[in-house]
Amino acid sequence: MPSTVLVGAQWGDEGKGKITDLIASDFDYVVRFQGGNNAGHTVIHGDKKLALHLMPSGVMYENAVPVIGNGVIIDPGVLVKEMAMLEAEGISCKRLKISCDAHVIMPYHKDLDGADEKRLGSNQIGTTKRGIGPCYQDKAARKGIRIQDLLDEKIFRLKVETALAQKNPILEKIYGLHTYTVEEICDEYLPYARILKPYMEETAQLLNRALREGKNILFEGAQGTLLDIDHGTYPYVTSSSCCAGGAATGTGVGPVNINRVLGIQKAYVTRVGGGPFPTELTFPEDGGTGQDAVDGETLCSVGHEFGVTTGRKRRCGWFDAVIARYAAEVNGLTDVALTKLDVLSAFDTIKVCVAYECDGKRYDYFPMQQSVLFHAKPIYEELPGWKDVDITQCKTYGELPENTRKYVEYLEEITGVPMSIVSVGPDRDQTIMRGW
Ligand code: GDP
Ligand code: IMO
Ligand code: MG
Repeated sequence: MPSTVLVGAQWGDEGKGKITDLIASDFDYVVRFQGGNNAGHTVIHGDKKLALHLMPSGVMYENAVPVIGNGVIIDPGVLVKEMAMLEAEGISCKRLKISCDAHVIMPYHKDLDGADEKRLGSNQIGTTKRGIGPCYQDKAARKGIRIQDLLDEKIFRLKVETALAQKNPILEKIYGLHTYTVEEICDEYLPYARILKPYMEETAQLLNRALREGKNILFEGAQGTLLDIDHGTYPYVTSSSCCAGGAATGTGVGPVNINRVLGIQKAYVTRVGGGPFPTELTFPEDGGTGQDAVDGETLCSVGHEFGVTTGRKRRCGWFDAVIARYAAEVNGLTDVALTKLDVLSAFDTIKVCVAYECDGKRYDYFPMQQSVLFHAKPIYEELPGWKDVDITQCKTYGELPENTRKYVEYLEEITGVPMSIVSVGPDRDQTIMRGW
């Protein structure tokens, strides 16, 4: 299997965790390259659902080495808890490697994330309040604290002192929040350093050595293409590079080493937080009416669309081929895993957005201006469904009802990307391989 990047091709929660876990046994290393514990990736272990926020979803397999790359930002308390949770489930974290260059989420990053959202009022992004934006801001401003700084108490103290000289006045004077002392932060963070030290490594060197030895790597993306800081629906995005290109900068592996880019797409679309969403089926509590509101509720309840990280109800809508084609281009998708196809068994007919209309103009490609995306009306094709046929036990493509296969093939045709994996349920064995 060639080294592969796995990316979300929508607004996140496409089922990256399930697919990473499914294919991880084909790889020697499974590497997270961006984001932090804003991610919530679900994997099924026995009869339990486990939510992973920082640990690569390949941790379940003894053969694969899980790596947290330099592009990830780490809340050490969350990582330590996640490792303990996995160990309690009988899953060993011994093989984990953590990049010494990854940045650290500090307590004031979390406070500032929440305070900044409050300040934005009705324009808020709807962040996970995990300190993601403020931590990446400090990284870009060259003021961040890295995992390696935890290894030297003197350096760590000095960096915290320098940071607090700037953060405390902002916390207190601008937001009216409590301030921190160096002692308080050191008391909390230095014990984490002692726990995490054995796992820290120069991971770029480790991964490049592995590639020279003929090993292969799976790069596990978090969030999704439309949440990417450059290519997403800015400013309603996260603060990292979630697209395939981020795998190179977020790990220190040259792009020539990546031969395959697998996009994960749900058979419909969801979004958590604010920002434009052309195919959204607005829920009744948000002012939605008629059949659209009913269909939105059905997608949410049948698909169990509630956030893994924050528990929020996810906004739901029909499959959007405009963003799918865009994701295919900006990531260079070689193939797609289509997930949650079973959820569509709830419908008589299924809509697919093939283009947008705005001010009398048709848009087949992702519009240049964000304002168009906010006002875009989806142009739908309506396909016959396979209502009430249970497809969750289908093991081969041929076993799927004819209309289900027609739906998959229609999506392939209008997005231009082959669908090599079709997922019909949350378990590993509820998956149809069509060329993986
Ligand atoms: P991620 O963030 O992309 O890893 O996705 P999440 O884990 O946040 O959300 C995906 C949810 O869908 C999880 O609860 C999965 O267990 C579930 N899931 C994944 N694939 C399928 C599928 O094919 N069918 C159904 N019904 N559920 C699925
Ligand atoms: P996974 O990896 C869905 C969204 C938030 C918010 C925006 C910015 O599970 O797919 P942030 O806390 O990152 O500053 O929030 O991004 N968001 C996600 N939405 N899935 C995720 O991760 C997300 N991570 C962040 O809801 O709109
Ligand atoms: Mg998720």
